[in-house]
Amino acid sequence: MDKESIINQVLLGDVRIRVADIPDHNIQSIITSPPYFGHRQYAGEDVSEKEIGRENSLDLYIENICTCFEAIKPKLRDDGTLWLNLGDTYRNKELLGVPWRVAFALKEKGWILRSDIIWKKPNAMPSSVKSRPTTDHEYIFLFSKTKDYYYNADAIREPHVTFTEKSKMRGGRNHLGKKNGTPERGKNSGNQNLHDGRWDQAFHPKGRNKRTVWEIPLGKFRGAHFAVYPESLVETCLLASTQKDDVIFDPFTGSGTTGVVALKYQRKFIGCELVKYYQEMAQKRIDAIVVQPRLF
Ligand SMILES: C[S@@+](CC[C@H](N)C(=O)[O-])C[C@H]1O[C@@H](n2cnc3c(N)ncnc32)[C@H](O)[C@@H]1O
Repeated sequence: MDKESIINQVLLGDVRIRVADIPDHNIQSIITSPPYFGHRQYAGEDVSEKEIGRENSLDLYIENICTCFEAIKPKLRDDGTLWLNLGDTYRNKELLGVPWRVAFALKEKGWILRSDIIWKKPNAMPSSVKSRPTTDHEYIFLFSKTKDYYYNADAIREPHVTFTEKSKMRGGRNHLGKKNGTPERGKNSGNQNLHDGRWDQAFHPKGRNKRTVWEIPLGKFRGAHFAVYPESLVETCLLASTQKDDVIFDPFTGSGTTGVVALKYQRKFIGCELVKYYQEMAQKRIDAIVVQPRLF
């Protein structure tokens, strides 16, 4: 398929095969959540042997995930990134450590691991376990293809918490640049307390640099697919790693959350989904936005 006709399409089928339709060096960011090991089954018997997550062993699951991302890699721009959301699995009352095992395997394949992020779910499903804490988090790994990748820290800064508006520290944040106020960046007036990192944390006008624990409630679009991730999780990844008109790819599209957010922010989207029912659902959601962009 050519570069333009594939835009805003959700390809139907196994991503390891369908990815061949995407031109090389086309994608700026991959934002995705593959099926977790041994959790739900999404596919019927017709395509079940191609479904990721149904493998008999964890080793095979990891191998299959790696094959998917190796097939996608040439399609990613050299300054592109991969945001990978994964949860863990218990087997015989033992935690398998799946997310980190996948992360290590991808590192072995040459992906550069830049960050591990904890997605904390304040409204996670309660559980009846009494012999361990209840799990209320998953992982998001940020990988890059090369060391020189696009990342816009300013787009996802978060509110300062260390110093309040009334902070006694040289006038607080409201006194930037004023006489006897807080010095501007790099001009610490000999005050070693205000090295760049501290300045960034306390006084950067757009907020402090994004942290690695993201508290995001599960989203509303839950009825349609078993494992929909929240739009604001995608938003954070998207804003940090892409600009207007960049192409975002979700190899495991599901209900199409990544695509919906991509279009909302004037990015281009390509998806892939193995199960026809979900592929159609995602395509419909995307088409509705393309036809009526003013809804957003
Ligand atoms: C965890 S869900 C993604 C949910 C999505 N993030 C959303 O918000 O709706 C993973 C999806 O991957 C699909 N899938 C499984 N194996 C696949 C394969 N080999 N190629 C493409 N998609 C696959 C499943 O059918 C499922 O819909």
